[in-house]
Amino acid sequence: MDFPHLFAPFAIRDLRLKNRIVMAPMESHLGNADGSVSKEAIAYYRERALGGVGMVVVEYTCVDGQEGFSSMAPQLRLDSPFYRSGHGKLAAAIQSAGARACVQLSHAGRQSRESVLGRQPVAPSAVPLSSLYLNAVPRALEADEITRIVRRYADAAALAAQVGYDAVMLHGAHGYLLQQFLSPLVNRRDDEWGGDFERRLRFPLEVVKAVRAAIGNMPLLYRMSVSDFIDGGLTIEDSERIAPRLCEAGVDAIDISCGSLDRVDVIVEPMSIEEGWRLPMARRIRAATGKPVICAGVIRRPEMAEAAIEAGDTDMISLGRALLADPLWPNKARMGRAQDIRPCTSCNWCIKETGGNRGVSCAENPRCGHETDPPIDAFGRGLRAVVVGAGPGGIAAALLLDQAGFAVTLFEKRGSAGGNLITSATPPNKEKLFWYHDFLQRRLAASGVDLRLGTEATAERVGDERPDVVVVAGGSRLAPLDLGGAGGLPVHPAFALLLGDVELPPSSPERPILIYGGGETGTETAEHLAKQGHHVLLATRSDAAMLARNAEPLYRIHLLQRLRANAAIAVADHSLLTAIEGDHVLLESRGETRRQPAAAVLLAHGLVPDTTIAEALLDLPVPVVPIGDAVRVGRIGEAVRDAYRCVQDLRRTIYQPEAIAC
Ligand SMILES: Cc1cc2nc3c(=O)[nH]c(=O)nc-3n(C[C@H](O)[C@H](O)[C@H](O)COP(=O)(O)O)c2cc1C
Ligand code: SF4
Repeated sequence: MDFPHLFAPFAIRDLRLKNRIVMAPMESHLGNADGSVSKEAIAYYRERALGGVGMVVVEYTCVDGQEGFSSMAPQLRLDSPFYRSGHGKLAAAIQSAGARACVQLSHAGRQSRESVLGRQPVAPSAVPLSSLYLNAVPRALEADEITRIVRRYADAAALAAQVGYDAVMLHGAHGYLLQQFLSPLVNRRDDEWGGDFERRLRFPLEVVKAVRAAIGNMPLLYRMSVSDFIDGGLTIEDSERIAPRLCEAGVDAIDISCGSLDRVDVIVEPMSIEEGWRLPMARRIRAATGKPVICAGVIRRPEMAEAAIEAGDTDMISLGRALLADPLWPNKARMGRAQDIRPCTSCNWCIKETGGNRGVSCAENPRCGHETDPPIDAFGRGLRAVVVGAGPGGIAAALLLDQAGFAVTLFEKRGSAGGNLITSATPPNKEKLFWYHDFLQRRLAASGVDLRLGTEATAERVGDERPDVVVVAGGSRLAPLDLGGAGGLPVHPAFALLLGDVELPPSSPERPILIYGGGETGTETAEHLAKQGHHVLLATRSDAAMLARNAEPLYRIHLLQRLRANAAIAVADHSLLTAIEGDHVLLESRGETRRQPAAAVLLAHGLVPDTTIAEALLDLPVPVVPIGDAVRVGRIGEAVRDAYRCVQDLRRTIYQPEAIAC
């Protein structure tokens, strides 16, 4: 076996686990509106249990339906016997798929909203929360309310034990109530529940003791943010003191996480954060407690998981997003098929979707959150399909149609496949996107898809294939731009540079490369060029505060920090590019026109769907389905989801089930 340490059995307390892989708790929003477990949630978890994890930790589940909800809804609940039956079915579904079932119990405290609760959120102290995701002004809990909440954790844990879960995890991380009591910034009390280290520790200890009493010999796990990563917040040194005390009170294993709503970028790390960065912290907590630790956070490849366990950094690893992208991660690793793992790139599209209160989803895995959909079987056998455009949406469509049994021809006018996956992956700190690019290339090579590179999809060529369906994934093009003056400067779309199609002349601080457009592409292109030694002037019509405004918010925090610190990039905001005159550009800003010397101009002012191919194919006597950017300019996840929906729709159309038989 390739990864003997990763697949060595392990035990937490008396609970034997078949391997060292845990599915991290992740809010799925698949529950019913009343907080009960739905059949969609069961299918979602079961698929991941079938994928070979040793234990599934069911997402944060509310212990207090009145004040304990977080801002996101619907959230699973286990605060009354009403919820028993759904959780019983869920635990059984996970167990019958070969994994242990654990549930994470949570109280949001101040990380909630009045609009969600219908009342003011509660907290140790009335310290307002102002974060990227949520603003709240909580009220301080009364002492008797605190003891009631301790009881609620214990009651929920008792229900978890009754319905058949194998273990319970307390959500002591991410700024929820348990962490709020520990934090000197949030807990400003001066009574038996706060005032110094010991008294701040009291609430978590009381909860642990009460839960331990409620669950008997069942394993009790505690998820800790071992560092807040904010000034004056909890540090790893604090956690080295706290974790052993939790273990003395009854905790059997610590799950290592970080951050709170003030630092979500260390909870669900953006693409720029390196793999396994929390392992040194896991090692410290393991040494401090002498108890098993589970380490979550950007663990992506089985090689690195194996090395971490072998080195003694952690006893188990926790996979979150990696299992959204590929539920079969463990089985593929175990069976020597690690190259087949669909790699999570930390693009955080899933966070955007769940943050928008939609069901869990993954940019690369359109089945995620839709596990009750019928599988794509060979409904297209004997039929032919043409896909135009080999960007991520086009490749996904081609692979899915191939899976469905169609004979698929994929036309790509460029000499290589990948399209905007390459433009997205090329800028600094985005190399994880090449993992996905390479994965798709491997999938294409192993498929029956007839890939025609360097081939324009004319109506005649497409017609010659005698397709039964055509999917147009022709992407986008630059929005029209009214530029005065002919100019003598090289002018290119920024995406052409990122695709490697453009050579630029040398630049200098006095004569920089002008990038026009302060969106994600413009900003990333600036960083890319600066890394190559160029000097860049990034001109944007908006305010500098709005740079890359549509980028994934956590990634954007890091991107803008780097941009501001980069001496090779200057920003001209509120600036309109009006003309190119000779080797100068004219920038109009606040009523004044500035003549700026430039070495070249890269256009990143916006994209519009490229509808030319779909229009050229309109006369074909078969369905022509545009997807992705050819419909509306969006992200990779939208294009891949379109591809999936298109194939699922075809499945329904081709089967044409009769509504009635008479
Ligand atoms: C969609 C989503 C929902 C999450 N919900 C929870 C949650 O309910 N409880 C929790 O402790 N962590 C939650 N997390 C954090 C993950 O458990 C995990 O710690 C984090 O994603 C980093 O690990 P990863 O890089 O393996 O994804 C969530 C993460 C994601 C992506
Ligand atoms: S959406 Fe992106 S970050 Fe989330 S699981 Fe999928 S690949 Fe990973």
